[in-house]
Amino acid sequence: MTETAKTATLSFDGKSFELPMHSPTAGPDVIDIRKLYADAGVFTYDPGFTSTASCDSTITYIDGGAGVLLHRGYPIDQLAAKSHYLEVCYLLLYGELPTAAQLEDFELRVTRHTMIHEQMHNFFRGFRRDAHPMATMVGVVGAMSAFYHDSTDISDPWQREVASIRLVAKMPTIAAMAYKYSIGQPFVYPRNDLDYAANFLHMCFSVPAEKYEVNPILSRAMDRIFTLHADHEQNASTSTVRLASSSGANPFACIAAGIACLWGPAHGGANQACLEMLKEIGSVERIPEFIARAKDKDDPFRLMGFGHRVYKNFDPRAKVMKQSADEVLDLLGIEDNPILQVAKELEKQALEDPYFAEKKLFPNVDFYSGIILEAMGFPTSMFTPIFALSRTVGWISQWKEMIGDPQMKIGRPRQLYLGETERDYVDVEDR
Ligand code: SDX
Repeated sequence: MTETAKTATLSFDGKSFELPMHSPTAGPDVIDIRKLYADAGVFTYDPGFTSTASCDSTITYIDGGAGVLLHRGYPIDQLAAKSHYLEVCYLLLYGELPTAAQLEDFELRVTRHTMIHEQMHNFFRGFRRDAHPMATMVGVVGAMSAFYHDSTDISDPWQREVASIRLVAKMPTIAAMAYKYSIGQPFVYPRNDLDYAANFLHMCFSVPAEKYEVNPILSRAMDRIFTLHADHEQNASTSTVRLASSSGANPFACIAAGIACLWGPAHGGANQACLEMLKEIGSVERIPEFIARAKDKDDPFRLMGFGHRVYKNFDPRAKVMKQSADEVLDLLGIEDNPILQVAKELEKQALEDPYFAEKKLFPNVDFYSGIILEAMGFPTSMFTPIFALSRTVGWISQWKEMIGDPQMKIGRPRQLYLGETERDYVDVEDR
């Protein structure tokens, strides 16, 4: 951040305090309140962190008003069109696009870490078959710290690097195993001759009883979905990973915490909730009924896949996802998918409605992704695990950035206390 001569003056109770300000390379200036409590004896108050920067970062930048998403400065639509997921992983982890040699080495290192410890297979068998795959992933990823002791010491840069590669490499294997376990099919080992996305499809959809050829259309669409979900500034799950990591917890435990947070329907669980909502709507005739419900203050219903804390314009990922949905369904010969028609008409009617226009509610990354994933053969329960798989590189990149910062402190927010002031204990016979 660039130090500015600019300061902010805070005045109350006849006192004034000068607070330093910092200017970013992009986005709003920040007021540095780190010494506010020590100097002025007051806290700031910002539940939900709507106006609070929790850290400085060089990884991802979102211009919510313009609908722009940059990873290390590169726009997401260019990366989705011209790059591929493992190259984006390299960019997020190391800060620059790799040379051909660097990319080849990185892809080989990831490929060589895709298997998980054989004993972890038994770990899966402790779950009920009908467990949600996200429950399995939280458990298994957390358990990685019980199997990979040689990459849990976060003070060792080499162990941090090994843990990063292991997590990027093994998440598809773990997600695929969670899926296979939930449908009662045998686990499928990764294949080193397949690229990252093709390998994931192979581990999910091949069976020992017959040959399985990965459809290149699906593999390209899968890779693009991974790329679109890779990182997104300090969202709820990334902030969870940062907070967990600030105590010095090992990376596997911290990523498990991120998976748990992502599961919620207001966050990564929205892709599953959105497709279920579109199916409940069922036909374009019922769209007005659901739009009315979304606008009704007394109805907790919200349009899933709509709205965003930061984007007050189109989520650029939703634009790419919408194009991809058209392409994939067309290439798969799925004519006139009724759910896609409902989604497009719902988007049209919502964007024409003053309620959504005034509140700047647009489709987000989760609005179209479920349509593609279902067309690829995934059940809705696998939508959020795929989001978690994709976002692991973002969580790890943010984790590395924070752990590598000598200024890092444990995160410990304060509160506005509204409870009882001190009072004496009352014996039970006197109550
Ligand atoms: C992700 O942070 C990230 O970057 C997340 C993510 C990532 O990549 O990590 O982008 C991934 O989580 C995308 C968001 C997925 N969630 C959904 O699609 C669930 C539906 N959307 C919402 O619940 C909501 O829009 C949030 C949670 C996404 C954002 O909530 P905010 O920023 O806290 O906004 P809010 O709840 O204060 O809403 C502002 C107003 C409210 O009305 P008022 O109280 O001002 O009258 O807009 C309304 C809300 O009622 N509103 C909606 C709505 N979203 C907000 N009304 C109807 N339908 C919606 N979807």
